[in-house]
Amino acid sequence: LPDSQYDSPLKGKHVVVTAGPTREKIDGVRFISNYSSGKMGFALAEAAKERGAKVTLITGPVHLQTPEGVERLDVENACEMYAEAKRIYHSCSVFIAAAAVADYRPDTVYDGKLKKQNVEMQLRMVRNPDILAEFGAVKQSGQLAVGFALETDDGVENARKKLREKNLDLIACNTFDRKTSGFEVDTNVLTLIDRNLEETALPLMRKTEAARQLLDYIERLMDSEQ
Ligand code: CTP
Ligand code: CA
Repeated sequence: LPDSQYDSPLKGKHVVVTAGPTREKIDGVRFISNYSSGKMGFALAEAAKERGAKVTLITGPVHLQTPEGVERLDVENACEMYAEAKRIYHSCSVFIAAAAVADYRPDTVYDGKLKKQNVEMQLRMVRNPDILAEFGAVKQSGQLAVGFALETDDGVENARKKLREKNLDLIACNTFDRKTSGFEVDTNVLTLIDRNLEETALPLMRKTEAARQLLDYIERLMDSEQ
C-alpha cells in the first residue's frame, strides 16, 4: 500500500534511534572505537519517518546523510550519547538502540598528545553507562525498548539473555560476517526475538529492507498492546 493509505501505529509517535560507533578519547589526538558505519540505525530512522513517526536520531561519528525530516543529534562518546538519550526517554514511544556503544572509556583523558615512553604502556578503562538497559529499567507501559545484539558466537542465546536483562520488547540478533552482515556492509542477517521469546529468522537482505521488517514487527507489538 502507498504510505498515505495505511495507518501505521507509529504515526505521530516519537521514535528515538541511536546509531553509529562511539569514540572514547585517549588523548587530544587519539581514541578507541569500532567499525560501526551507522547504516542500520540511519535506515531505521528513515523507515520510521516514512511511517509518520517523529524521529530523533542520536548518532556517533558517521559518514551518512541525515534522512529527510529526521531530527539528528551528533555526539562523540558514550557519555554524551547517554546524556542526550536520557533527556528524551520520557517522551519516546519506541527506543531503538542500533548504536555500537563502547563498553569502556579510558579513565583519564590527556589534553595534549601523549608521548611514547617505555616498550609497554597500560591504559586503564572504566565502564560506560548502558543506554538501552537504562531505558529498559525506566520505561513505562506503552513504551517499547528495542535492541541489537552483535554476536560472533552463541548469538541467539546471548541475545535472549540481553532481552531479559535489559527488559526489552524486541532484540535483533545480528550475525557478524565481514562480507554480508554486521558492520560497514549494506546487508544484514537478523534473527528477531520478542519479549515472548518468539523467534523469527530473517534471510540476508539489505539494511533498508531489514529496517522495514523490524518496524513491521514493532507495529505488530504496538497493535497487540492496545
Ligand atoms: N547498548 C547501549 N549502551 C551500552 C552498550 C550497549 O545502549 N553502553 C545497547 C546497544 O546499542 C545494543 C544492545 O545494548 O542495542 C546490546 O549491545 P551489545 O554490545 O551487543 O551488548 P552488551 O550488553 O554491551 O554486552 P557485550 O558487549 O558484553 O556482548
Ligand atoms: Ca557491548
